[in-house]
Amino acid sequence: MSVKLNDHFDDLVKNYLFSEVGKRVKAYQEKNPDKKIIRLGIGDVTLPLSTVVVNAMQGAVLEMGMKSTFKGYPPEYGYDFLRKAIVDYYLKNDNVNLDMEDVFVSDGAKSDCGNIVEIFGDNPILIPDPVYPVYMDSNIMAGRKVTLVNATKENFFLPSPEGIKEDSYIIYLCSPNNPTGAVYDHKGLKAWVDFALKTGSLIIFDSAYESYVEGDEPRSIYEIEGAKACAIEICSLSKSAGFTGVRCSWAIIPNQLIIEGKSLNQLWARRQATKFNGVPYIVQKGAEAALKEEGLRQSKETIAYYKRNAKLLTDLLTKKGVFFTGGISSPYIWMKTKDDMTSWEFFDELLSKVQIVGTPGSGFGKNGEGFFRLTAFGSYEDTLEAVKRLDELL
Ligand SMILES: Cc1ncc(COP(=O)(O)O)c(C=O)c1O
Repeated sequence: MSVKLNDHFDDLVKNYLFSEVGKRVKAYQEKNPDKKIIRLGIGDVTLPLSTVVVNAMQGAVLEMGMKSTFKGYPPEYGYDFLRKAIVDYYLKNDNVNLDMEDVFVSDGAKSDCGNIVEIFGDNPILIPDPVYPVYMDSNIMAGRKVTLVNATKENFFLPSPEGIKEDSYIIYLCSPNNPTGAVYDHKGLKAWVDFALKTGSLIIFDSAYESYVEGDEPRSIYEIEGAKACAIEICSLSKSAGFTGVRCSWAIIPNQLIIEGKSLNQLWARRQATKFNGVPYIVQKGAEAALKEEGLRQSKETIAYYKRNAKLLTDLLTKKGVFFTGGISSPYIWMKTKDDMTSWEFFDELLSKVQIVGTPGSGFGKNGEGFFRLTAFGSYEDTLEAVKRLDELL
């Protein structure tokens, strides 16, 4: 065949992180079948959906099975009942006023983070390093020039725009962050909003972990004055209500976002209407239930379970004097490796000596070298056992 391919795919860095983790764990287990390995590398939730969500979805299934209540294609931007529930959620939780038309229901924050690139031209892109890989790879696939912003131990993995050359960028921010668990406070996030307003940049704010915020750090970028004129927000029910296998998220594109006289909201509406046929009714009914009072209460209990795990780990690291970020307003704990080992050396040390699996930080970018990600998504019993083992090793 002689059709042309998208050569930008050649520019992607081969992502062998999770396959390499899997390979090394498998090899170790085969050699040591009697050893119990504890997995603290899990980036997926492990607790089931809450009962209100299950009930709502069961009710929706029954509706779909009756002629009088059957529904075909859902609206591309989401059913009004869910868009309204999302607007109410922002008002109640973040004191943020949104219009229903600002809300686009989707099948995942990952898809939206990747697809949003399509409505922009060839702008310079700013992405923190280390980073959730989707921002980087979707821009590389589109042939964009990416500039990395250093997130390091020195800035507690919360880079600021200070010193960045003024230009009109697309800026990706994620807070609470994956992989570092670091969370911007109002001042830190305001610095980015001010920079964007001053330079004519646009922020894409990924708030997938907003429900883990414990203090008064912003859960939505729209808590910062001026953000509606310079930011898109992408959020998900994956980590708050356990929807990783159900799939429901949303993008907020305020109608104040006008570039070259064109509304970003309208561009995204057109993109979605052209390429997306909506999220299933059954899923949206579950999502609505998750965002109502009882759903939020039940999600809070699940998050509290993960946070109890996180606290076991952070208490140990504090006791041992190990530098870490995250673990308080986040399910991720980002720790310095022992004795300045590389991330992979520390991975092998943990696996071989105490049979604990985490994720090497270097897999998330060059500034992740020398760091290691643990997660709180395991069981309480396993985390407790892991802490005992780590106590001996660190
Ligand atoms: C920062 C961040 N954004 C987005 C996602 C993906 O969310 P979804 O399951 O809604 O696609 C994840 C999942 O791990 C994530 O860590």
